[in-house]
Amino acid sequence: MTSYKELGLVNTKELFKKAVSGGYALPAYNFNNMEQMQAIIQACVETKSPVILQVSAGARKYANQNILKNMAHGAVEYAHELGYDIPIVLHLDHGGSFEICKECIETGFSSVMIDGSKLSFDENVALTKKVCDFAHSQKDYVTVEGELGELAGVEDDQASEHSHYTKPSEVIDFVGKTKVDSLAISIGTSHGRMKFKPEQCTRDPNGILIPPPLRLDILEDVKKKLGDFPIVLHGSSSVPVEYVQMIEKYGGKLTDSVGIPEEQLRLAAKSTVCKINIDSDGRLAMTALIRKILIEHPEEFDPRNILGPARDELKKLYMHKNKNVLGSAGQA
Ligand code: G3H
Ligand code: 13P
Ligand code: ZN
Repeated sequence: MTSYKELGLVNTKELFKKAVSGGYALPAYNFNNMEQMQAIIQACVETKSPVILQVSAGARKYANQNILKNMAHGAVEYAHELGYDIPIVLHLDHGGSFEICKECIETGFSSVMIDGSKLSFDENVALTKKVCDFAHSQKDYVTVEGELGELAGVEDDQASEHSHYTKPSEVIDFVGKTKVDSLAISIGTSHGRMKFKPEQCTRDPNGILIPPPLRLDILEDVKKKLGDFPIVLHGSSSVPVEYVQMIEKYGGKLTDSVGIPEEQLRLAAKSTVCKINIDSDGRLAMTALIRKILIEHPEEFDPRNILGPARDELKKLYMHKNKNVLGSAGQA
């Protein structure tokens, strides 16, 4: 049993309070390997941004949660060595059961998500409350994110054909009964690189897909019910056209990619959204650079010369997000 405090990590409690009152959102970047972790920490130290290092079920399977826990500990020491101690949260993304959440809490995670969004309201309440009771009674309080409403796309290995927007009428009851510390809501974002079907979009003169707008009205209705309670947005990659085009230029095929425009995320962050989840954009940045190098330098076979430039591009992407999308730069 390790407490996150022994690892130099923090929970989300104070960070979210500051983010909501300051009109910005914390970045929640998924990581699975060392290069992603280094890029996240370099970018967040340079922009002086607090950060949530996020571990999905897929990441636990790929990299092992103990290795990831120790990488998060390494991240704290790395930030210190780079010259600025930013607050770092280690968060379980889309926890699928009480047992997984408990295991992560006992491993040293400072925050967990319990994703009961596919359950009935009452089952979601019961499961989320069980996780909160356990997490909150630890010697060092672990924060819990719950979810109401369902995103389209892939969540925890299950494909959902349609999104089900969060019902503002349910949020007070859910938060009151479960005592969650933050709430993920569904307002039109979705996971992955294809957030909308082409028939839901329009096209600009160059044929680029333009998505329908986020339902910021639902976010405002939730705010009317919950006041300054911390809200989370999943599926918030913007799927930059430049990366998609670069991947396709170097042999990839990513037809019908479309993401959430940055200006809409900025608006959400100015309201009560205080955590914005980004994974797919990092995947696109890394893949674009890896493809470019392999094609332009066919003689290259040292992984450091392939993954190094991909890491540099990731850092650039995260710095841009912190400064121009989330508004978290300068807040650490
Ligand atoms: O919510 C989904 C995240 O992008 C994580 O995806 O389970 O493939 O790591 P993953
Ligand atoms: P994206 O697929 O839009 O990056 O969303 C990531 C996410 O929500 C992780 O929980
Ligand atoms: Zn998610």
